[in-house]
Amino acid sequence: MNRIYLLVLAVFSVACGPKGPLPAKPAENVGRCVYTNGFSKKGECREYRGSKWTEATATADCKDQNKTIELGGTCAEFKETLGECVLGAADKYTWITMIGTDATTCASTKRGCEFFGGGVFGPSAVCGALDPDTSTGTGLPTFQWPELACKDPLPGEPAGKGPNGQVCTWEMISAATEEGRHFEDYASCDRVRTQRPYYAAPTELDATVDDPRMADPAYAAEVNWIKTQINATACVCCHSTKAPEGSSNWYVDQPGNFLNGFFKRGLAMGAGWIDTGGFGTFPVEQNNGFHRATPQTPTETIFVTTDQARVKRIFEAELVHRGITRDQFPAQSYGAGPLDDQRLYQASDCDNGEGVAADGTVNWRLGAARYLYVMEATSSPPGVPPNLDMPEGVLWRFDVPWTGAAVPSGSVTYGVSPEGTTQKAPLMGTAPALVSGKKYYLYVLADIAQPNTRCFFTAP
Ligand code: HEC
Repeated sequence: MNRIYLLVLAVFSVACGPKGPLPAKPAENVGRCVYTNGFSKKGECREYRGSKWTEATATADCKDQNKTIELGGTCAEFKETLGECVLGAADKYTWITMIGTDATTCASTKRGCEFFGGGVFGPSAVCGALDPDTSTGTGLPTFQWPELACKDPLPGEPAGKGPNGQVCTWEMISAATEEGRHFEDYASCDRVRTQRPYYAAPTELDATVDDPRMADPAYAAEVNWIKTQINATACVCCHSTKAPEGSSNWYVDQPGNFLNGFFKRGLAMGAGWIDTGGFGTFPVEQNNGFHRATPQTPTETIFVTTDQARVKRIFEAELVHRGITRDQFPAQSYGAGPLDDQRLYQASDCDNGEGVAADGTVNWRLGAARYLYVMEATSSPPGVPPNLDMPEGVLWRFDVPWTGAAVPSGSVTYGVSPEGTTQKAPLMGTAPALVSGKKYYLYVLADIAQPNTRCFFTAP
């Protein structure tokens, strides 16, 4: 019966062609640019919509795609599309048509738009009628859940503070080993590199040599201290020359003074001028004395450290040195980018049959689930582990281990965690029965930080 229901839904979607949450399309358009997306290697056509675009800015943008703008052109001729991706603000939209017919790429196309681009995705009929059974791909490695690694100290290093003198370290992006040791000696960076998109990116400036400030022993001592701190944390998995495909943005072992490699936004995150609480952290007592910002302590640094005040002083001094002032970073709660977009997401009512059906079947859209939550309607959206993934009011939640296969929509009954999954709520016993007529929050993720369905349903 559920199958028939989904089929009806699919036919309905094709017939009415719902366009998802796309904003109204402004009439003004400078022109179009047809190019190949360097990341997905797929064809795209973008229009420059809204009053703030000029011929010069649109021409420059198209040149960045290695193509020449066609003034006055539109993307309407492309009929075979996966959907549209809209970037930017109302008076300056980049309105992208994603060309293609391969429905297995719908989920990665949507996430490419939303997660990397920060855009809004409106699926075409091809992707709007997605068969959840065939779409699982996120285009990213599966998030591996943090584990606690306990190892004997390296020869020549003192005994550890863990059981039997071992050194115990969480294998997690926000974790630290013991102060003075190196993270990668005690934990797996391979696991850490599954926990957020990892790619190489250049530093701010090539200021690798001869920073005269390093001749000042007091200054050099502070730089060396913070390097020691960072070397104890999982940040080195991507922010050092040990990262297998190159370092991401700043790197701790940059020659000269590594602080010169930061962009100003990175420095402001270090100083606690930007709220980075959405990135997640361990409680200090579980993390070898290290911690960083939380949603409750948003002015702490993004760095995982044993001495908040000292780290913030160091980064503030760099900002002052570059002539950057705090008013360039107006109070905002979106320091963690897409993670904050998710954490602060305002859901609306389900309108495509998502939710728990009368026979208990759970339905959702846009791909199979690795994480599924049914929560009170008043609950906040879940964020990243270890501290933000279990909001108040979770009635039922299961996780698929990273080695397991994601669970398709329609194959799950409310309260019955599928075989091979881990029930995270309730920890004991069974989920409470849903009250007929009451609203609940269904939150389904393809993987950590990659939501599929987030909406309110009314229990039958
Ligand atoms: C799995 C890889 C990975 C790990 C681990 C990681 N980062 Fe990053 N980080 C990145 C990538 C990728 C970027 C973005 C590079 C770019 O696009 O410029 C980035 C960027 C940053 C930036 C710069 C933001 C900006 O706008 O300039 C800061 C600051 C930062 N990371 C801090 C940290 C800290 C602190 C840790 C450890 C607690 C950490 N990162 C761990 C991958 C990682």
